[in-house]
Amino acid sequence: MNQDPMTSESKRVDTLLRYDPRSFPPFADVFGNDHPVEIEIGCGKGKFLIARAMQYPDVNFLGIDLVWKWMRYAVERSQKRSLTNVKFIKTDAREMVRYGAQSATVSVFHIYFPDPWPKRRHHKRRLITGAFLRELHERLAPGGLIELATDHIDYFRQMQAAVVHSGISWSRITERLNNRLFEAEAETNYELKYSAAGRTLHYLELCK
Ligand SMILES: C[S@@+](CC[C@H](N)C(=O)[O-])C[C@H]1O[C@@H](n2cnc3c(N)ncnc32)[C@H](O)[C@@H]1O
Repeated sequence: MNQDPMTSESKRVDTLLRYDPRSFPPFADVFGNDHPVEIEIGCGKGKFLIARAMQYPDVNFLGIDLVWKWMRYAVERSQKRSLTNVKFIKTDAREMVRYGAQSATVSVFHIYFPDPWPKRRHHKRRLITGAFLRELHERLAPGGLIELATDHIDYFRQMQAAVVHSGISWSRITERLNNRLFEAEAETNYELKYSAAGRTLHYLELCK
């Protein structure tokens, strides 16, 4: 039997990046092109990012998550599909944004359902603060977006307050259903789970 030299094994692309954020190369070196870069912070199992990478082959996508137990699904699924425009890195997103992302290089930060840390004494662990928004803003390209979603009303209020505390003059702030949701397959796992449970979901979009 003739064997196709491009078996699924030989076409397999390694989508897991093993850099330390402090020595992360420029995105153009990581992806081998200078296409726009979108980053998902807390990508979990990667459902949203993989669907988006398949839909937009001329955009590069980077998924960041702290927990390998979830991210391994994202890596396996993207490798199975031989996607070359999506990569994953297991690290703290705060470190990656601070040290790994260069100034004005990111077109969208997607941050969907970040851990709400509901207990008051844990609020300081929440990702979205005025200081973090300032760092994200600095890494955004002109006209770039930060897309936020949460089901947690108290965290949503904190996000709104963080926008004020950031002291940044955003060119546009909108609180409406995220545009990506008009595209099939673009819901995240938590979005599906929480909307099926009938929870109210809150969205915020910040434009540089
Ligand atoms: C509630 S889940 C949401 C997952 C996904 N965004 C979704 O909507 O289905 C939050 C995710 O953020 C990740 N996470 C929490 N803190 C993080 C951090 N500092 N850096 C990177 N990922 C983080 C968690 O491991 C988890 O996968």
